[in-house]
Amino acid sequence: MPIEFAERIRRIPVYPVAAGYDLGEDVAMLASNESCFPPLAQVAQAGAGALTGAHRYPDPSYAPLRRALAERYGIPPARIALGQGSCDILLAAGEALLEPGAEVVYAWPAFSVYPHLAAASGARAIEVPLDAEDRHDLDAMAAEITVATRLVLICNPNNPTSTAHDLDSIAAFLDRVPSHVCVILDEAYCEFALALGDTYASLELLRRYPNLVLLRTFSKVYGLAGLRVGYGLCASEDFRVAVDQVRQPFYLNAAAQAAAIEALRWQDEVERRVVQTIALRSTLEDGVRRLGLWAAASDANFIWLHLPEGLEESDVVMGLRDRGVLVRAGASLGRTGALRVTVGTERENERFLSALAELL
Ligand SMILES: Cc1ncc(COP(=O)(O)O)c(C=O)c1O
Repeated sequence: MPIEFAERIRRIPVYPVAAGYDLGEDVAMLASNESCFPPLAQVAQAGAGALTGAHRYPDPSYAPLRRALAERYGIPPARIALGQGSCDILLAAGEALLEPGAEVVYAWPAFSVYPHLAAASGARAIEVPLDAEDRHDLDAMAAEITVATRLVLICNPNNPTSTAHDLDSIAAFLDRVPSHVCVILDEAYCEFALALGDTYASLELLRRYPNLVLLRTFSKVYGLAGLRVGYGLCASEDFRVAVDQVRQPFYLNAAAQAAAIEALRWQDEVERRVVQTIALRSTLEDGVRRLGLWAAASDANFIWLHLPEGLEESDVVMGLRDRGVLVRAGASLGRTGALRVTVGTERENERFLSALAELL
């Protein structure tokens, strides 16, 4: 007899991980929206330095990292949720907020982890299609909020379509959400968004909406995806307490904490990398458009393009892979006939564009 698992195991979708980790060194990894810049030497050293104390459990209060984030954003440490990547906070939010009979509202396609929250908890997922420009349809989302709604997820900029709403539109949406409904504004890519102003601008929303959480990560702009550190800037302490309650005490390892603290000290370098990424993004978008393809106006560190009719998405993805370029197929992200391509180094982007040109 096979092992009998909980019913929810049949409901939880398998996360569409990127293929190609076995392809060796000479591959352009443009499938997971990572930073194309490695961590700074000082950051890597801080992480490595923590290993000498690895016989001890990490500090479960995470006080130094909370303090560093609190200083940066002017928010009390008690209102900063931490997680093993922001995914961890999302999943914990699902566990803390959702249950059978409850509803979670989000746009689709959006970040592939969102469907897990409903599937794991037995809540109902209300997936609201994007508008004609592949952006969140905020009016349609507001119309889906009912007495059963417990959680709303807004991905801004949206993964996989790279589009963002400005903060006035987000505020107008938040005005329509009852204050007992938690809203997570997933800002994993906000540092790359020209539409959003600087990274402090959305903090103002925390003062106006007590049900709001800004979800951010060290995986993208800080180039620490491999260490798994995410954080939530919360309008109220309740959210942080609840997501801590549903997880194991030591969710953030010592090396990850040390590296994240050090990374926060190098904002000038982070800013330089953002500027470089935006310039590389713009060249990548232009290159795609020169090939006659539609690409969304990206506010992230990746681009989203539509393939011409008659061209099989899977053939293009495999063709790129054969040429040493890994990208993400739209089908695995909720929309067939599209590609999501991470902004890589200049060389990687050129490699992608010339491989794509060959395939078109
Ligand atoms: C929109 C969005 N949110 C959250 C995450 C999770 O990132 P992490 O768990 O690495 O912080 C990702 C990762 O790709 C993402 O695209």
